[in-house]
Amino acid sequence: MKKITIFLSLALLAACAKPQPQAFQVIPMPADVTVTDGAFCVKGVAVTVDPALDELSQKAVQRFVQALETATGVKTKSGEGGISFVLNASLAPEQYTINVKADGAVVEASALNGFVYACETLKQMLPAAIYGSVKAKADWVLPYCSIQDQPRFAYRGMHMDPCRHFWTIEETKRYLDVMTAYKLNRFHWHLTEDQGWRMEIKAYPKLTEVGAWRNGTVIKKDWGSNDGIRYGGFYTQEEMKEIVAYAAERGITVIPEVDLPGHMVAALAAYPQLGCTGGPYEVWTRWGVAKDILCAGNDEIFTFLEKVFDELMDIFPSEYIHIGGDECFNGDAEPDRPDPWDVCPKCAARMKALGIKKGPQAKHYLQNYVTDRVQNYLNAHGRKIIGWDEVLEGNLSEGATVMSWRGVEGGIKAAEKGFDAIMTPGGFCYFDYYQSQERDKEPFGIGGHLPLERVYNYEPFDGLKPGTEKHILGVQANLWTEYIATPEHLEYMLLPRMCALSEVQWCAASAKDYERFNASLDHTFQMLDAMGVNYSLDCRGLVGLDRQPARTPEEMEAYLAKKDWGW
Ligand code: ACM
Ligand code: ZN
Repeated sequence: MKKITIFLSLALLAACAKPQPQAFQVIPMPADVTVTDGAFCVKGVAVTVDPALDELSQKAVQRFVQALETATGVKTKSGEGGISFVLNASLAPEQYTINVKADGAVVEASALNGFVYACETLKQMLPAAIYGSVKAKADWVLPYCSIQDQPRFAYRGMHMDPCRHFWTIEETKRYLDVMTAYKLNRFHWHLTEDQGWRMEIKAYPKLTEVGAWRNGTVIKKDWGSNDGIRYGGFYTQEEMKEIVAYAAERGITVIPEVDLPGHMVAALAAYPQLGCTGGPYEVWTRWGVAKDILCAGNDEIFTFLEKVFDELMDIFPSEYIHIGGDECFNGDAEPDRPDPWDVCPKCAARMKALGIKKGPQAKHYLQNYVTDRVQNYLNAHGRKIIGWDEVLEGNLSEGATVMSWRGVEGGIKAAEKGFDAIMTPGGFCYFDYYQSQERDKEPFGIGGHLPLERVYNYEPFDGLKPGTEKHILGVQANLWTEYIATPEHLEYMLLPRMCALSEVQWCAASAKDYERFNASLDHTFQMLDAMGVNYSLDCRGLVGLDRQPARTPEEMEAYLAKKDWGW
């Protein structure tokens, strides 16, 4: 349970000439914090690093030292009595302790993640300028304190969609930097979609020659037309390895997603023989759910998928690989056209061979067959699958992890059936939804309404059958980018909601306190300013990218009554 005790002496308050520590506004709030009177100066401080630290932990400490030197404008030195980073093998890998007293600061952890999180907590206790890249005049002191910290959930994820709109390697690294600051540890990279295949696969070069490019992008919500401008991009294998390494240095595992058997139109455009009709197909220029998916009756799709996963596994060491599985049926683009699996002779032959009876569940069982074959292949290579909650329909095989997005029900059901689950319910974790209801002031978006406080108040165990909590590995938020085309907008949608998410992921339920969290955002906004990262100020009454004043409650009532939100 969180325990915070803050003793502020009148003497310190009166001694204005003394350097003042930054108010304790660390997000996510550490599990156990005691702040006492006094402050330890870190400008030009001695830094000692236990030689027993592994290479990545040493690198993490060096990044902290570098940031400190840049921001203070003074080099650190070696010697006793400064900040010591010490290996303590009795701590869990993500646990750390910090003790700051008059004679110095001692940081202890047992592994990379613990050291990364300790450094981030130290940085958040210092003036926000430590997140910048220039020297700043400030009170460079840490408060005397004793901190013992570890996360509630092992899986603390954030998703990125580079398919609907493409994000460069540098933009992706910035995203990872922000995740690091708030102690997230899983980056779900959604690399394939109807509107663009983003991952270089050497065995199938057309995936990126053809599949990475679309001939237009929908304008606002006019899904029937597009701007006619060729759009796309992809990551080379070297670039993806660079992201994996960059994330790994920050304690973040990259979980790649190949969404299958649906959301595959870009791949079908490149290799039309993989679809039920044989095409031709075009990389999709509209949003929504496509009818055309991989043909479950064609063995060539498994050769294709295995070769794709062979190359993917060489790039991504993650134990978990996301295989998608969402929205395979009832595509919304051609309502009168039957699902290809309902009319394809090859799919019909496969169903017959598998003994799948005709009926509403038939397609789900056929999807189970595809999921199973991919799962078996990945399991044989020592990997595990994650699937969106549709994979639970029919008969999901043991060992799969379910990502609950269509509400919380998928996760609850999965846990009851003995599957592990990751909670990412749309109503709490879809960061493409509007943050305020003032849509005329917000950048154009997909719809929905997900204010900061609602994210914060999400409790992942709500609705679970007692005893099944152990199956909830953690929580993730998703940021789909149909309507998000610039980094400025992407970051605006991400923040500060990801800060709220970080407390859902990290803090014990009893330690959460929206008022305390909201007050701590003052420091977070300074940090993000120093990093040059954009964010929403809706929680401070300023709406939209240009931060217009929010309506008064009376104006808001009148505005909502009109139901005219600009589109
Ligand atoms: C999803 O949002 N289609 C997983
Ligand atoms: Zn078929």
